[in-house]
Amino acid sequence: MKICVIGIGHVGLVTSAGFAQLGHRVIGVDNDIKKIKGLMRKTVPFYEPELEKLIRENQKKGRLSFSSSIKFGVKNSEVVFICVGTPPREDGEADLSSVEKVVREVAHSLDDYRTIVEKSTVPVNTWQWIKHTVNLYNKGNTEFDVGVNPEFLREGSAVKDFLQPDRIVIGVENERAKKILLEIYKKINCPKIITNLSTAEIIKHASNSFLATKISFINSVSNLCEKVGADVVKVAQGMGYDPRIGKAFLSAGVGYGGFCFPKDLAAFIHIGEKYGYELTILKAVQKVNEEQRKILVKKVKEALWVLKDKVIGVLGLAFKPNTDDMRLAPSIYVIQMLQQEGARIKAFDPAATLEAKKILHGVKFCQDAYEAAMNSDCLVILTEWDEFKNLDLKKIKKLLKVPVIIDGRNIFDHEKMKKLGFIYKGVGKGDASIFLKK
Ligand code: UDX
Repeated sequence: MKICVIGIGHVGLVTSAGFAQLGHRVIGVDNDIKKIKGLMRKTVPFYEPELEKLIRENQKKGRLSFSSSIKFGVKNSEVVFICVGTPPREDGEADLSSVEKVVREVAHSLDDYRTIVEKSTVPVNTWQWIKHTVNLYNKGNTEFDVGVNPEFLREGSAVKDFLQPDRIVIGVENERAKKILLEIYKKINCPKIITNLSTAEIIKHASNSFLATKISFINSVSNLCEKVGADVVKVAQGMGYDPRIGKAFLSAGVGYGGFCFPKDLAAFIHIGEKYGYELTILKAVQKVNEEQRKILVKKVKEALWVLKDKVIGVLGLAFKPNTDDMRLAPSIYVIQMLQQEGARIKAFDPAATLEAKKILHGVKFCQDAYEAAMNSDCLVILTEWDEFKNLDLKKIKKLLKVPVIIDGRNIFDHEKMKKLGFIYKGVGKGDASIFLKK
């Protein structure tokens, strides 16, 4: 099929390349001309495993091209996917101005029937506004359908998530749009949930909110574990084998970050308020997430007492491993809290330093983990990069002024660290007397 994808951000670019890989002819459209020119020269604007290869292959086969003109994209396709950003406003409400602008331009460009599909994460019933707006600006009264097809792509595994998804959600109003969307995904063998448009929109917000709830739940349990001498990792294991609970997303840590969870939770809460229902559970999820960062800082203080002029080495800045994404990363909040206490920060991340430099100030960025440890009073781990798991711990111990490690991601074995002589505090590893023993 001929497909136009509007908005070449993380989601739009993976979607464009993914559709091309499925054999469709895809035009990716973005108003950022620099980005489009770069893509034409085969420069991918961000890192995502497998993506560059997929783009190059499909460009070579002539199935994937890029343009800065919505008109061109719409005229040369049968289906139009909207993948533009929906960033949060101050109060958590999603800013839909980019969606509205794009929809107007699509409406202006309609000359024949098109299926217009919303892929961006949007508040429920946005489809009604899309339909209304297309009707308003579609002077020739050209026929169209609106569809909703939310994405569930994780950064770092987005290509795999696209080509081998757990499920595909298709929200439609009629058989015509249903047939077209099923045709697009016919090569992908997974459950396909066909539903109405509002339900499809809710599925996306509900899914991300539930995942964030799992994380805040296990983080709450971890805090209790610390008080009663239990081990949250084992608790999560013991819970996870129950298929009704599942093992995924039960890693206690310093809280979730990234662009999606915080944004989608805030938007979902806002939708609830708009329709007169308070999503109390999600407000608690947000609160636990914020507390989790403070608890980590408290652990540093418990180990070092006064933080003024102490040097803290931070390992890991990105909101999760295998990405350079710093958006709403827990590291930002933790580092700022430590700085407010007067601590000096030395930090290392294998990929996110460039991005971190734009956000964090007064931080000394290091070349590697050992430099971050050198002459520091404490090492704090905030992202569970594999390379940290293989550090030479004896060397780290020698480099540190005092062998204190506060691990916000539980990457090391408690007993082993104790044997090596570290004062080591993970998350949800109950042993309240550890600092006293030292
Ligand atoms: C998320 C969703 O998973 C994806 O389906 C959606 O479309 C976009 O948002 P992403 O933001 O890329 O994807 O990251 P994800 O892997 O889900 O992790 C989110 C955050 O949760 C990270 O900060 C991670 O460290 C944290 N997390 C995850 C935990 O703290 N514990 C866990 O057990 C799992």
